[in-house]
Amino acid sequence: MSIEAELRRLAAELPAGSRLPSVRELSRRHRAGPVTVQRVVTRLEREGLVDAVPGSGTFVARRWAPAPGDVSWQTVALGARPLPGAGLAELVAAAPAGTLSLATGYPDASLWPSSLLAAAAARAARRPGAWDRSPAQGLEALRAWFAADAGPGVRPDEVLVVSGGQAALSAAFRGLASPGDPVVLEAPTYVGAIEAATAAGLHPVPVPADSAGIRPDLLAAVLHVTGARLIYLQTRLANPVGATLSPERREAVLALARSHGAFVIDDDFARDFDRPGGPAPLLADDPDGHVVHVRSLTKSTAPALRIAGVVVRGPALARLRNARLTDDFFVSTMLQETALGVVTASGWPRHLTTLRRVIDERRQAAASALAGVPGLQLVHRPTGGFLLWLRLTPGAGGYGNGGIPPEPGDEAELVRRARAAGVLVLSGRPWFCAEPDGAYLRVSVAGIAAADIPEAVARLASAIEG
Ligand SMILES: Cc1ncc(COP(=O)(O)O)c(C=O)c1O
Repeated sequence: MSIEAELRRLAAELPAGSRLPSVRELSRRHRAGPVTVQRVVTRLEREGLVDAVPGSGTFVARRWAPAPGDVSWQTVALGARPLPGAGLAELVAAAPAGTLSLATGYPDASLWPSSLLAAAAARAARRPGAWDRSPAQGLEALRAWFAADAGPGVRPDEVLVVSGGQAALSAAFRGLASPGDPVVLEAPTYVGAIEAATAAGLHPVPVPADSAGIRPDLLAAVLHVTGARLIYLQTRLANPVGATLSPERREAVLALARSHGAFVIDDDFARDFDRPGGPAPLLADDPDGHVVHVRSLTKSTAPALRIAGVVVRGPALARLRNARLTDDFFVSTMLQETALGVVTASGWPRHLTTLRRVIDERRQAAASALAGVPGLQLVHRPTGGFLLWLRLTPGAGGYGNGGIPPEPGDEAELVRRARAAGVLVLSGRPWFCAEPDGAYLRVSVAGIAAADIPEAVARLASAIEG
């Protein structure tokens, strides 16, 4: 029996408060390292099955009685409204034990700058004012770092610190448009952007994107017809396709934004995963406040360092700042100090180099392995980042038997079968705000070791074969 199975059984059978075997005892009996045992204990603690009390031991957690009230009235009160945000839970969920994840968008713990984080957090906690309020716009020193990072000519007073890229998108959609307004989104695009735009009451208008990014000819037509003043893009290694906006299209997009008086939210989420010498942020070509540049640190540090900088020029800055204030006043000073400590540490550039190298190796290994799977076609071969976007084609098993192309929606069943086979992938369907033009899977190598990729792809292939 595995350590996890043993602890689960004991937690189910023993009364609450019972002492469980110590980490040392489990290590000895199962011939596992204490770190491995500790990880299992932490996982069960997160599930609420055990309590780990430092210096004392691990105990069976208290069991909660079923809720006594009758909340069925809420079904009537809440009505059948759409549920923005419902699709996002799986983006932040941890993979169940024993499964391999080709789904998570966050690099796994082996790629976090853990010692930099620990040192920066310890230093931040000792600083006077660590627990005091922060200026609503963010700490000056951190804003100065984001400004310098965004490129020449960007000033700290044009930066707003928010708690991660998702918060930046919510604030930008609410701050820059009003309910009922159209917002242009690439098709496909980041599901969290579709959800945030919908939650803000905006009407997403899709414009197709290909291997060179959004199609400017179709963007022009959409801006003309809808009068949209807000465009959301990821101009670098876009999620999910992995495409970078080509230099010609960059110019065309900016020209359209200028002529239509529109904002372009550029979600530069993959900045730290691009090859050295990759394009400058779109902001570099726009002094006039059309581009709102979003730069999150969560992907290249750790998912819980929830810090992003938004560069926004002109009166729009106050709109975004106020949108944030209504949410939660300001971002934790401790977290801002910690982020600043990490990105200004001498080890930060080395961390980024390692991160890029490891992710590139994983992506290339996955692209090669997936190329051999019948029924899957890589839509684009990204030059960086952790994402691969695959189209289901007439191939093996139930997908396109007899040469019939898979239908949009077929991927949901495939994702279920893959999960049963022990590998997590995401259905492409939620990444479209309107009808997709095919059935797709989104694969991420952020959370899987290179050594596990052949096994993960074999499991996916077996799910496709059916
Ligand atoms: C394109 C894109 N933008 C924003 C986010 C939000 O991430 P965070 O809020 O952790 O910065 C994600 C997360 O997956 C993403 O893929």
